[in-house]
Amino acid sequence: MRIGDLILRDRVHRSVYTDPAIFKIEMEKIFSRAWIYLGHESQIKQTCGYFTTHLGDASVIVVRQAQGDIRVLYNRCAHKGMQLVADDSQGAAKAFRCGYHGWIFDLDGSVKTMPAEAGYDGTAVCKSNPLNSLKPVAGVAVYRGFIFATAATDAPYFHTWLGPLKSSLDNFVDRAPDGEVEVAGGVLRYEHQCNWKFFLENTLDALHPMVVHKSAIRPAEILNAKRQEAGAEIPFELQMILPFGASYAFFDDMGQRGAPFGHGDLGDQMSIHSGYDGQPDYWEAMVKAYGAERAKQILSISRNNSVLYPSIMFKAPVSLIRVIKPIAIDRTILETWHFRLKGAPDSLFARTIQYSTIVNSSAGMVGPDDHEAYRRLQAGLGSDGGDWVWLARYLNQETADQEGARTTRGTSDFVYRNQFAAWRGYMEAA
Ligand code: FES
Ligand SMILES: [Fe+2]
Repeated sequence: MRIGDLILRDRVHRSVYTDPAIFKIEMEKIFSRAWIYLGHESQIKQTCGYFTTHLGDASVIVVRQAQGDIRVLYNRCAHKGMQLVADDSQGAAKAFRCGYHGWIFDLDGSVKTMPAEAGYDGTAVCKSNPLNSLKPVAGVAVYRGFIFATAATDAPYFHTWLGPLKSSLDNFVDRAPDGEVEVAGGVLRYEHQCNWKFFLENTLDALHPMVVHKSAIRPAEILNAKRQEAGAEIPFELQMILPFGASYAFFDDMGQRGAPFGHGDLGDQMSIHSGYDGQPDYWEAMVKAYGAERAKQILSISRNNSVLYPSIMFKAPVSLIRVIKPIAIDRTILETWHFRLKGAPDSLFARTIQYSTIVNSSAGMVGPDDHEAYRRLQAGLGSDGGDWVWLARYLNQETADQEGARTTRGTSDFVYRNQFAAWRGYMEAA
């Protein structure tokens, strides 16, 4: 089947989730060509700080130079190719020394030392040959602290790629009274037995919470009724869980947006986070920083989940992001990173951790339901029980917004149709 035959206007073929040959092309054409989220500047605050992560299937080192700028280098020794730095590591270094034959590289990637160098006299193995340096990735963009990279020399200009989602990412940072955010706390890192696309779809799926998460919603509703009756206050834990059980009409009214390159937001108008109790000390800090009108405007944007396709979902109202790292057609690592808003009271960060613990963690009441759904989706689509996955809900009912995105009702399948339009564009590109 040709790529174009897999994506129809109202459905996609199951092989996009199950065929290892498709996955191989995705790594080459999507994860090597799109702008991929690598991490946040605050992970390498110190001079010469570094961390390792992946750009597609390549391990890379993200490293702050002595002058302060950030470089991204392939994590591959120029001698015989050994990975220089361990996966998922971080620290500060004066240089990188290969653990095999001891070549030493400067933080900018240039080779400093080749042990027993004289033996290479008269060959191409010399310090002046760029082949003996660590290779930099083709493009790096840092926007408001978020670090993205691409392996493509012909990638679109970063801001063209970001497009209308700029306002969503800005809102994540603008919520900090000091206008900056920083990674804090640990990372939740789980491997799931499923295709990477399920998470990006699920995170914008407003048609599943009332069904998949019923086992969390129902006890919360019972407890809430008891507390209301007793005139007791409603703790944040309940405020978090209860909106998952909202009606279809509520989720439709939230709205959604789809933008070029497959990006999208759920909760264009409001979200499941809109009804949380305000925090007076945070509000005061915001008013002091921005003035009441601007502070109100910032906090009135409450987009539930925003996706920068294909590698990051961010959740501005509770200051956390999810990062997608595909490993195989049916294996994906999903990470949750938490952010502290500079200038905000500690109680706000406590909410972020509380949200992540209750919703995202393996011990939580919500995330494990989704994980089970992904596993069963992979199992169902791997069978011969049918070839197509429907994306037909509210077909062709979108309207353009002022930022160049298209909006429609929250439970529409438009955001997925939009993701697959981008998927097709990447996969069919020369
Ligand atoms: S492979 Fe790195 S020094 Fe030989
Ligand atoms: Fe869910």
